[in-house]
Amino acid sequence: MKTTQTTFQSAFEEDVYKGLTSFPKYLLSKYIYDQKGDKLFQQIMAMPEYYLTNCELNILKNHKDAIADIINKEGGFDLIELGAGDGKKTKILLQHLVDKEYDFNYLPIDISQHVLEELESSLKSEIPEVKVKIQQGTYFKTLENLADYSARKKVILFLGSNIGNLLHENAIEFLRNIKEAMTQEDMLFMGFDQKKDPQKILDAYNDPTGITEAFNKNLLTRINREMDANFNLDNFLHWETYDPESGTAKSFLVSKVQQKIAINRLDLEVNFDAWESIHTEISQKYDDTVVAWLAEEAGLEIQTSFQDNENCYKNYIFRKKS
Ligand code: AVJ
Repeated sequence: MKTTQTTFQSAFEEDVYKGLTSFPKYLLSKYIYDQKGDKLFQQIMAMPEYYLTNCELNILKNHKDAIADIINKEGGFDLIELGAGDGKKTKILLQHLVDKEYDFNYLPIDISQHVLEELESSLKSEIPEVKVKIQQGTYFKTLENLADYSARKKVILFLGSNIGNLLHENAIEFLRNIKEAMTQEDMLFMGFDQKKDPQKILDAYNDPTGITEAFNKNLLTRINREMDANFNLDNFLHWETYDPESGTAKSFLVSKVQQKIAINRLDLEVNFDAWESIHTEISQKYDDTVVAWLAEEAGLEIQTSFQDNENCYKNYIFRKKS
């Protein structure tokens, strides 16, 4: 037990302290994503078991015409993407909007300037007609600024079922924040992974090659490096659960032995009993009823939705409720 008051150097330190001194223990999944975590997530997206990527790609390929028509209805618009990444999926839509000669700007928002610059230069060579204006920053700060300066209709893209990392309560808060930045004519285009055969979900988060395990354990690697800790990764196993009733997939790290971990930067020693867990991530799965409820709570309504060939995944278009 600590006796002196700790001053934390970062939110990461404070959150690690809170999570590992709580019962049951937890860590926040947003801290998985350093440079190595980003790479591992790209590898996850390329795994055959991680069906989400191909499902959303399938929706964009099959329905790009209908999607483009809806978002271009009243002419010119700004296409704003939250968490753009490598833009693989977005490029399908961008190419189509260019082919149709629609009048739009593409404004990808990301926390990483590096990611944005790579995206910008790949677009320059692959689809040079797109007018790109990269926006470095956090989603909401940047969205707020855009709401102030953009006079055109906004179409906000949030792909990949990234909302699934949030508990419903936080998802509603997130959607409400987006709604605040929207006008009556703006649109929100979002991906939601759907409830399905539970085995398929478990397989997506429990690949045999261990990429997801390494992704999950990157939390411990980061704490070791950034907080001078001594987690032995081999003493933890990756465990995935899926509850078909709530639609919640959960990731854990489970301690295989009783062990004490020193986190020097936090002046903290953490005891793990044998088989004690750290909860690290949720990946929520949805159905129409839940999505409609989240929207309603946030002051949004579903205008329409698009589904992939295998009924695994959906993209919804939301409008601000009048
Ligand atoms: C980036 C949140 C959509 O939950 O499916 C992938 C992250 N975690 N494999 C997801 C993730 C384990 C992913 N999201």
